[in-house]
Amino acid sequence: MCGIIGYKGNKNAVEVVLNGLKDLEYRGYDSWGIASLNGGISLVKDVGKVSLITLEDLKLDPSKMAIAHTRWSTHGSVNQTNAHPHFSGNENFALVQNGIVENYQELRGELKEKGYQFNTETDTEVIVRLIEDKLKITNNLKEAIMTAFNKLKGRNAIVVINKENQTIYAARNGSPLMLGIGEDEFILASDPSPLLKHTKNIIFLDDYELVTIGDTYHIYNLQTNQEIQKEIQTLTWDPEQAKKGDYPHFMIKEIMEQKHTIKQALVQDPELIKNLAKEINLAFGVYAVGCGTAGKVCLAGTYAFSDIAKKHINFAFGSEFPNFHHFIQSRSLLIVVSQSGETADTLEAMETVQEKNGKVVSLVNVMGSTIMRKSDYSLLINAGPEIAVCSTKATTSQLALMILLAYAAADRYDEGMVLLKNTADQVGLMLNEEFNNSLQQLAEKIKDQRDIYIIGRGANYAIALEAAIKIQEVSYIHAEGFAGGELKHGPIALIEENTPCIAFVANDETKADILSNAMEIKSRGGYIIGVAPENNEVFNYWIKVPDVSYASPIVNIIPIQILAYYLAIARDLDPDKPRNLAKSVTVK
Ligand code: G6P
Repeated sequence: MCGIIGYKGNKNAVEVVLNGLKDLEYRGYDSWGIASLNGGISLVKDVGKVSLITLEDLKLDPSKMAIAHTRWSTHGSVNQTNAHPHFSGNENFALVQNGIVENYQELRGELKEKGYQFNTETDTEVIVRLIEDKLKITNNLKEAIMTAFNKLKGRNAIVVINKENQTIYAARNGSPLMLGIGEDEFILASDPSPLLKHTKNIIFLDDYELVTIGDTYHIYNLQTNQEIQKEIQTLTWDPEQAKKGDYPHFMIKEIMEQKHTIKQALVQDPELIKNLAKEINLAFGVYAVGCGTAGKVCLAGTYAFSDIAKKHINFAFGSEFPNFHHFIQSRSLLIVVSQSGETADTLEAMETVQEKNGKVVSLVNVMGSTIMRKSDYSLLINAGPEIAVCSTKATTSQLALMILLAYAAADRYDEGMVLLKNTADQVGLMLNEEFNNSLQQLAEKIKDQRDIYIIGRGANYAIALEAAIKIQEVSYIHAEGFAGGELKHGPIALIEENTPCIAFVANDETKADILSNAMEIKSRGGYIIGVAPENNEVFNYWIKVPDVSYASPIVNIIPIQILAYYLAIARDLDPDKPRNLAKSVTVK
C-alpha cells in the first residue's frame, strides 16, 4: 500500500530513491514520483511501473537529497497529477504520504474556506495545504508539520523534503516508517527492503514520532516536541535474499525457497513456544486473526488446535474482528498472523483486544514491524523477504508455527517438532523440476477455463480458500474454495462438463467424505484434480503429495501455489504484480 522513501547522503540520491522505489514497488504500482533537491526541488512523476524506468529516463541531475513514492491509489484516480510527491505552493517543500487522511474532506473544506486552491483529488494535498497554513503562524517547518500531522485522522506516514534548510522530515502514525543509518548517509523507507543494500542499522519509528534529517538525525515526540533517543537495531535479513537471482519471478523463487524456509520457521526457543502454549491454554477466549492469506492460516489453525490440542479457538478476519469486541476481556488472547506485520485491519483487531487489556501473540515475518512491536509476545517466522505480492513461503512457515503451537498446547511439543521437521524434509524432496513441470502442463491444460473450484474438509477447507485466492490473484481465473460438504447446498449447480475441481484429500478422518464430495462433482461432469498422498479412481488428475498427517495443509497448498504461478505464465500475466493488489495493506 504505497511505498515511501527518503535519502540524504553522499551517494546520488536520485539513483538511491529510484532503486528504492523498485524495491518498494510491491507495495503499490499504479504510479510513482521523485522529488530531488539540487538548488531547487525538481519533481518527476508518472503513471505506470517504476521498474521500467532508468536513471537516464528521469533526466534529473545527481543530488544528495531526494524523496520518492510508489502509489496504490486510495483517493483520486490514477494519473500523473495525483501521483506523489505534491509541491507546496511556493515549491519550497514537497511531500509524500502512505496511508489515508480519514478527515480529509473536513480539512479540505476548512482550507478552501480560507482560500486555498487544490490541484489534485488526493487526500495528501490536504496535508501540504495544512502545513502551509500552519507555516503562516509559526514560520518553522518542523513545528508546522507537527501541528498539521496532529490534526490528521487515520493511519499514515509522511516524508517531506525542504529546500531552504536542506532537511528531510518524516512522521508516522499507524503506517510503517523506518530510518536506516549508514556511513554518512540516512535513508527512510516504509519497509526494510530498500535499506538492506545500504545498512543493517535501523531505527523503527513509533507512532507519533517525527524524524529530521539534516547533517545528522533527531527524533521527536510529535505531541510534546521533546527529543527522544531510540535504540538502533540490526536487521537480520541478507540483501541477497531480496534479489530474484536466476529465477524469472519472485513468486517462483519464493515457492522454491520453501525447501528450507519451513525448517527456518522451526528455529524457535522451545521454552517460549511452550510458554505461549500455556498462555493459550489459560486464556478465556482465544481468537486467531489475520487478513488474506494470513487469515486462511488462522482458520487452518483453529482446526489444528481442535484436532491436536482439543482446544477451541475462534477465527475472524482482521476487518471482521472488531464486531466481536463485546466478548473481549482481560483474559482474552489474540493470536495474530501477518507476513508484513503492518496490515491495518489486523492492527485494529489488536487494538480492540489491547483496549480491554487482553494479550496478543503474533507470528510475523518482518522484524521490527508494528504488529511485532505492539504484541505482548512475537514469533518471527524467519522466511526472509517475501517480495511477490502473492504470499507463498510465508504461508507455509505460518502454518508450521500454528501447528507447532497446537502440539505444544497438547503438551506434545517434541512430537510436533518431529512431524514438522519431517514435513520440511518431504517438501524439500517434493519441490523438484519434474513436479513443477507436471504442474506447468496441468496449467496449460486448464488455462482457458472460466472457473476452478476447490474443496477441502477440516484444516484443508481453509487451504481450499487459500488455494482459490492464489489462483484468483495471479491468473485472474474465477476460482472459489468450498467446504466439501457445502457443495451440495448450492455451489454444485455451477458444475458443468469439464469444470476443473481441485480436491484436497488428506489421509485423515475426512478422507472418505471428501472423496464422496469429489465423486458428487465428477458425476456432474467435473474434472477432478486430486491433491493426495495416494491416487484414487475418482481423480481425473492426481497431484501426489507426501503423507504428513496434521501437517497436510503445508504440503497441499504448495502444488497449488505452483499451479497458480504457471497459470499466470500461461496467460501471459506478471505473477509478481497482480492488478489492483498490494503486498502490504496499510489502509482499512
Ligand atoms: C495483502 C497481500 C496478501 C496478504 C494480506 C495480509 O492482501 O496481498 O498476500 O495475505 O495482505 O497481509 P499480511 O502482511 O498481514 O500477512
